[in-house]
Amino acid sequence: MNHQMPENIRPENIRLSNDRKKVIIIDQSALPNKLEYLTLDQPEECFDAIKTLKVRGAPAIGIFAAFAMYVTAQQWADHSIEEFQKKYQLASEYLNSARPTAVNLSWAIRRLQQIVDDHAGGSVSEVIALLGKEAEKIQQEDMEMCYQIASHGLSLLKEGDGILTHCNAGPLATSCYGTALGPMLLGKEQGMNFRVFADETRPLLQGARLTTYELQKAGIDVTLICDNMASVVMKNGWVDKVFVGCDRIAANGDFANKIGTSGVAILANYYHIPVYTLGPSSTIDLDTPTGADIPIELRDPDEIRTMWYKEPMAPEKVPCYNPSFDVTDHTLLAGIITEKGIVYPPFEENLKRLFR
Ligand code: MRU
Repeated sequence: MNHQMPENIRPENIRLSNDRKKVIIIDQSALPNKLEYLTLDQPEECFDAIKTLKVRGAPAIGIFAAFAMYVTAQQWADHSIEEFQKKYQLASEYLNSARPTAVNLSWAIRRLQQIVDDHAGGSVSEVIALLGKEAEKIQQEDMEMCYQIASHGLSLLKEGDGILTHCNAGPLATSCYGTALGPMLLGKEQGMNFRVFADETRPLLQGARLTTYELQKAGIDVTLICDNMASVVMKNGWVDKVFVGCDRIAANGDFANKIGTSGVAILANYYHIPVYTLGPSSTIDLDTPTGADIPIELRDPDEIRTMWYKEPMAPEKVPCYNPSFDVTDHTLLAGIITEKGIVYPPFEENLKRLFR
């Protein structure tokens, strides 16, 4: 069943400037202490914004990439179509290389590239106008998808439920509502109350900095825990459901999400707590057969050794292994909540039926 999204919703995290020549984002790396906006139009600064998680979360990265390519393309408005195409392709390959795991980045880049390819004989100004429209469409579609995901997810929740979430899959990470946080935000709007446990999410603390910020702002009862406390709150009987986002869902239902997600899912299964991942079709990658085929981003060891601390909390050169994501096996999942409804096992068959 489709639910009607209210008309007055506007995404706050990513938008175009009034002259449409720049993209304006909330700098997620400054939250929760400062709400700062960045105004960007250079390919290098857009690449950096993705790489350094100023804009982050799978759907938000895709939306931002589309706007980034649109504002970049406008700088070549006086080029011939051949020159424009060459520059465009190089810039889009460069942006696509900023982060490998969330499939939404390459998905959005491909959508815009298709427009450029389809209009090889057209005018540059026409192509640029179409790119702008497509970027706005991607954002609008994401809002609709998030709203549907929130509605489907909410159908699983009861008044007073305890929900554990990992990382941040709220409005900041998407366009509005978010994915994993959507049902809680929508439920709160409808007068329901939940008790949410937010894992802090080492090493970049998206749970501590962003999830608690977004849920508190919405008036939702949220308790911050360290990642290694999840089993205790589960054992205490405080968690009825685990809701997490995703960065890429493979054809068999395995999914990549923030490092630590698979551990949470294993614990939840031990305590017989159902685990759901929530994501839009832009995160479903049927061309990737299993989780083993998902590229996993490795990040700077200093995110573990020194970041957030006044002094380093590890010997200066101690080797660190810092995968940014892990893959949760589909056998640990109760369901995948998408804009088209809740997908239950067998995932391979049911995902193909709904999304191929
Ligand atoms: O490294 P990040 O912060 O971009 O990782 C984000 C996540 O893993 C989210 O859970 C995922 O992108 C879902 S966002 C709706």
